Amino acid sequence: MKTLYKKNFLKFSDFTKKEITFLINYSLDLKKQKKEKKEIQYLKKKNIALIFEKQSTRTRCAFEIAAHDQGAYTTYLNSQDTHFGYKESIADTAKVLGCMYDGIQFRGYHDHTLNLLAKYSKIPVWNGLTNNFHPTQLLADLVTIQETYPNISLKKIKIAYVGDAKNNIAHTLLEAAKTIGFKLNIVSPKLYWPDNNIYDTNQKKIKKNKIMFTENIKKGVKNIDFIYTDTWVSMGDKMTCWKEKITNLKKYQVNQKMLDLTNNQNVKILHCLPALHDNKSKISSEIHKKYNFSSGIEISHDVFSSKNNLSFQQSLNKIHSIKALLIATLSKNHPFFI
Ligand code: CP
Ligand code: NVA
Repeated sequence: MKTLYKKNFLKFSDFTKKEITFLINYSLDLKKQKKEKKEIQYLKKKNIALIFEKQSTRTRCAFEIAAHDQGAYTTYLNSQDTHFGYKESIADTAKVLGCMYDGIQFRGYHDHTLNLLAKYSKIPVWNGLTNNFHPTQLLADLVTIQETYPNISLKKIKIAYVGDAKNNIAHTLLEAAKTIGFKLNIVSPKLYWPDNNIYDTNQKKIKKNKIMFTENIKKGVKNIDFIYTDTWVSMGDKMTCWKEKITNLKKYQVNQKMLDLTNNQNVKILHCLPALHDNKSKISSEIHKKYNFSSGIEISHDVFSSKNNLSFQQSLNKIHSIKALLIATLSKNHPFFI
């Protein structure tokens, strides 16, 4: 493993299998240290900029808590209250932040912005979600999977991703499956398979990577260990997309009927959140009413409420996995520095 010090995490594939494995184990170790109140701070006097063009609950909180636990200072910047890309180019802002800060988290629309930030700031940049990728989420997800099956190698795990596969979570799962070697079935109407510039869905080429694309739910979820789903309309998509998405994805809702098809009574559910599993948020209530849903859109409320749903554990693990990432990329003093 090469050192992660000063490295960017723009895409999941920026890191090797060894580096990801290291980060997963380190995250679990940091989780234990925090629980036992034995955490050592490696990021004292470090300054971290958190840029958000899109909304966030978990990712922002996880970065802030991870940094605070480690003694670092954070500044939250959004595109409304700063000159970012409006009165000042991304390159100039990146140069300014690069002089003031030690690392930058970016959540926004385009990978191009992320790449400009990395190029001109010359400090580590971490992707906290773009239209195409969400690598910091996948890191937390793999920590959660390893925590669930501590004695099983991740490459033995079988995951079915069900729903809109033309989004950041599906794209990053594909990168993760390629890096780690776990089995991944993408279960979605062809219309929502990733574009070829993101992933070549040609079956012959992908066979050896244990990745399968299918429209067939029964085939896609059979004997699976984890079912992963995400919202059908992502941040930045137009609200008018809902009609088409619901028409095409309705039968891909994660519900008890789908779980029964897995042949695995112990199948676990992953969801990055936020989830439209009930009508208790503004959007969720609107969609339930407008399209005549009674209890959940991409996931049914009963499945979401079951003990097999690991989504809140995924959220919590964002603190520990982001902390491992911050320490590994910003500190030379931690015990695993090489
Ligand atoms: N899963 C996730 O990234 O959540 P937030 O949008 O709340 O950060
Ligand atoms: N695909 C979702 C993920 C949210 C964490 C979105 O981009 O809105």
